[in-house]
Amino acid sequence: MTKEILLLSGPNLDQLGSRSPEIYGTSTLFEHVERFTHAAEELGYSVRHLQSNFEGDLIEAVHAARGHSVAIVVNAGALTHSSWALADALAMFEGAKIEVHLSNPAAREPFRHVSTLAGVVNGSIAGFGALSYSLALDAVEGLLTTP
Ligand code: DQA
Repeated sequence: MTKEILLLSGPNLDQLGSRSPEIYGTSTLFEHVERFTHAAEELGYSVRHLQSNFEGDLIEAVHAARGHSVAIVVNAGALTHSSWALADALAMFEGAKIEVHLSNPAAREPFRHVSTLAGVVNGSIAGFGALSYSLALDAVEGLLTTP
């Protein structure tokens, strides 16, 4: 059976392409997901992607991934800075967990300097634009294959 990676996209990421292109670039979410999925499939993974503007949808997707997906790559958008509930859900997931951001929140407004997720994931990748997703996939592969 193919090992599944759950790719989660939080609020407003459905607007990528036209949303602040000077910060987030011009690629649409569909393009990021396509590139990620193609690269993951080359490595033998399948990808399930969910974008939602609703916190509960993301939390329920994490619950459903338990015992099913081998990894979660999550760009939670602004929920990164506020959602203790999503952090609690991710804490229960036993596989690899990578937090990813297109921009570098640490170099932006103060409210973006806190990540509720940082303490429950294996690691965070931020600030590399589209490359952030590729680096996140490298991180998943490394975590799952390095003894
Ligand atoms: C983001 C950074 C967040 O601060 C912001 O709220 C987003 C996008 C990023 O990918 O750079 O929605 O997660």
